[in-house]
Amino acid sequence: MTPAGLAPSDPAAPDAARDPGASAAAVPAPAEDPGTPHAAAEGPGPLLTAGFSADVYAISETQVLRRYRSGRDAGPEAELMRYALAHGFPVPKAVHVGGPDLVLERLHGPTLLQALAAGVTSLHEGAHIMTDLHSKLHRIPAPPAWAPSSPTDWPHVSGGDVVVHLDLHPGNIVLSEAHGPMLVDWANARTGTAELDVALSALILAEVAVDAGGEYSEAARVLLAAFLAGTHLDVRPVLAEAAHVRANDPALVAGERELLGEAVGLVRSMENVTRD
Ligand SMILES: Nc1ncnc2c1ncn2[C@@H]1O[C@H](COP(=O)(O)OP(=O)(O)OP(=O)(O)O)[C@@H](O)[C@H]1O
Ligand SMILES: [Mg+2]
Repeated sequence: MTPAGLAPSDPAAPDAARDPGASAAAVPAPAEDPGTPHAAAEGPGPLLTAGFSADVYAISETQVLRRYRSGRDAGPEAELMRYALAHGFPVPKAVHVGGPDLVLERLHGPTLLQALAAGVTSLHEGAHIMTDLHSKLHRIPAPPAWAPSSPTDWPHVSGGDVVVHLDLHPGNIVLSEAHGPMLVDWANARTGTAELDVALSALILAEVAVDAGGEYSEAARVLLAAFLAGTHLDVRPVLAEAAHVRANDPALVAGERELLGEAVGLVRSMENVTRD
């Protein structure tokens, strides 16, 4: 997730025309045109959103298709999502996976980002939702046999004793009408340490906060402060590692990478105030 992506213009999930008869087996073949962001190919139903790496289509009232444009294998993240769900974590059910296609339980409701931007959810409550999801996730032990689809996959994080998401931010949290806050976009999920996961969330918020011209700079700063105050973990020891992971995020554009140093400084200074 990029700071630019942390904007309220993130499309909602419009309930357009549906195909209630569609099923996982009816999902068409993957797009032929990988790697072109926002160039959605034909899907099994209306396109809900086109993110950096994936298109999300409505299949029916109860299911969506998330499809990687690059052809990347969604198998490993589906496995982690199912594992987390089995541990009681709030994640949509992975109904079917086949290559880059992942059929998911459809959630209805705004993202936390949209709710914050609309003033429906307070910054304090938003921070609480983020810290709560982190602490629930980090109670899940690393699955012994799990491995990413390719050892060269970004992010190059290895080891750690718990499940981590590494992209937990308001744009990846859906406030489901039926289930409450649910975590989506498990592209970066793997095994790792809780500290690194929390540090990445902090850095993502900080990148928005230090973007002085940005519309959400002030709100992101308040959200970050509340988020750091609400977590029991001290992220300072892993900030450099988190910045390295962020700097190598293929979804980061040039201007955003330049904000990283300042973002690290902001998180460090807030932590110094909170923890020393
Ligand atoms: N199971 C779901 N039900 C309903 N909507 C969903 C579901 N999963 C994802 N979405 C919607 O699609 C959006 C994009 O999904 P996701 O973050 O997984 O894709 P992405 O390509 O990684 O996007 P980005 O680059 O913006 O992070 C989410 O913000 C959410 O609004
Ligand atoms: Mg996302």
